[in-house]
Amino acid sequence: MEVAVFDTKVYDREHLLAAVSNPGLHWRFHDFRLSTETARAAEGCQAVCIFVNDRCDRDVMRILHQAGVRIVALRCAGFNNVDLDAAKELGLSVIRVPAYSPHAVAEHTVGLLLAVNRKLHRAYNRVREQNFSLQGLVGFDIAGKTVGIVGTGRIGKVTAQIFRGFDAKVIAFDEYPDRDWAERSGVEYVEREWLFRNSDILSLHVPLTDKTYHLLDATTLSWTKPGVTILNTSRGKLIDTSALIQALKSGHVGSVALDVYEEEEGVFFEDLSGKILQDDELSLLLTFPNVLLTAHQAFLTREALSEIARVTSQNLLAFQSQKEFAPGTQLV
Ligand code: NAI
Repeated sequence: MEVAVFDTKVYDREHLLAAVSNPGLHWRFHDFRLSTETARAAEGCQAVCIFVNDRCDRDVMRILHQAGVRIVALRCAGFNNVDLDAAKELGLSVIRVPAYSPHAVAEHTVGLLLAVNRKLHRAYNRVREQNFSLQGLVGFDIAGKTVGIVGTGRIGKVTAQIFRGFDAKVIAFDEYPDRDWAERSGVEYVEREWLFRNSDILSLHVPLTDKTYHLLDATTLSWTKPGVTILNTSRGKLIDTSALIQALKSGHVGSVALDVYEEEEGVFFEDLSGKILQDDELSLLLTFPNVLLTAHQAFLTREALSEIARVTSQNLLAFQSQKEFAPGTQLV
């Protein structure tokens, strides 16, 4: 089976090549993203393998289908970039890797909080310049603070448990609360507005859907506690960036750590050093001392990459031999 693999980096190639030695699977690696302009690169392939910023809308699906593609394999958990209805209509299968390592993302989330709270990003630069002053580096204890987790799926749960280990009070909101888990873990479910109003640290772990788009906007940001720390390692479009910038400028929001950004497509994952950044809001965010950004790297651990490659390869081989996909991986 020929598989066109879009938006690949060295680490994707290494892990996919190492995952399976089956001669029936041929990876055709592309470093460009999937779009209407590039979909023809899948000509002659039965499968495409895509990542978070590849676009797989109805138009792209049509081109892929005409090119002979019959399965779209997402090498990630989120699938907001794929038109599942169009896939159904065209008879394309869609698979993903729902749970490669919730720990990777949860640990990165907590790492971001520790860094932005204790100003490690600033301290690191200062010490390298032989500036050993502590002025402006005061943080807060996490113990005793209230952490609000929005979305207690796989990643939200692990994040909540880590914060419990810090002796924080953890409150949570989810459309489908898991009350047994909450009781076992010492987590309390509350209403969404209550969570926003009472959290010292707010961490987003819901997928991007029509309902969660701009979950944090001017209104919901105004509900948050003055000085709140906001963490988003889920999807950029959960936050209205303009509203966030206003809340940072007014001093209402204490600090922000993001691994995802509303307009990250075409920017994150690329080396743009030496280029002029065209996104004014991103440029502005990068100037705030209390904002820490990483470029969608929360998933990037050896364990997660190996698991993504293993599940994706095995599912593609299963598709080829008309066997069942791994449980929970089939979307269409
Ligand atoms: P999951 O599907 O296990 O959990 C999502 C939770 O959100 C579920 O409990 C669901 O009931 C809840 N939910 C959905 N819509 C909701 C709404 N409108 N209001 C309240 N709760 C709602 O997903 P998982 O594995 O925990 O991943 C969460 C998100 O993390 C993914 O959708 C993805 O966008 C993001 N992610 C980011 C990565 C990164 O590298 N930064 C890597 C992997 C995932």
